Amino acid sequence: MENKNKKINHIAIAVPDIKEAALKWQQALNMKKSEIMILEEHGVKVVFLEFSNLKIELLEPLDNESPISKFLEKNPKGGMHHICFEVEKITETINSLKNKKINILGDGNPKIGAHDKPVVFLHPNDLSGTLVELEET
Ligand code: CO
Repeated sequence: MENKNKKINHIAIAVPDIKEAALKWQQALNMKKSEIMILEEHGVKVVFLEFSNLKIELLEPLDNESPISKFLEKNPKGGMHHICFEVEKITETINSLKNKKINILGDGNPKIGAHDKPVVFLHPNDLSGTLVELEET
C-alpha cells in the first residue's frame, strides 16, 4: 500500500440489536456515541462510539439479505466483523492490491461508506481470515 499514515479508522462489531449494544458500549467504557444511521446500499444500520484514538462501529443488518445477517447466524451474540484502514488514494491502492493477488469484494469498485467517503472490502481469505475495509481519507 502506498498509504503513508497507515491509520486505523475503526473496528466494526456486528450486533443483533444496535440500540441496546450502543448503550452498553457507551455506558461500559464512557464512550461518545453518534446517531444511528441507515446505510441502504450496505444493508446496515450503523452507530459509532468514540475513544480518543479509535472508533468502534456497531453494525446491525437491515434485513436477511444483508451481509451482516450471515455473520450473526454464526455469531448470534455479535462479534468482531472488520477492521478499517485509511488510505490516501483508494483507486491506486485497489490496483496495487490486484497485482498482489488480494481480491476486492463485490464488483471491485469503491462504494460510499458511513463517512461519505469511498470504501472497499478485501477478501478475508487473502488476509488471515480477517475482513478488511479500506477508506479513502
Ligand atoms: Co466499517
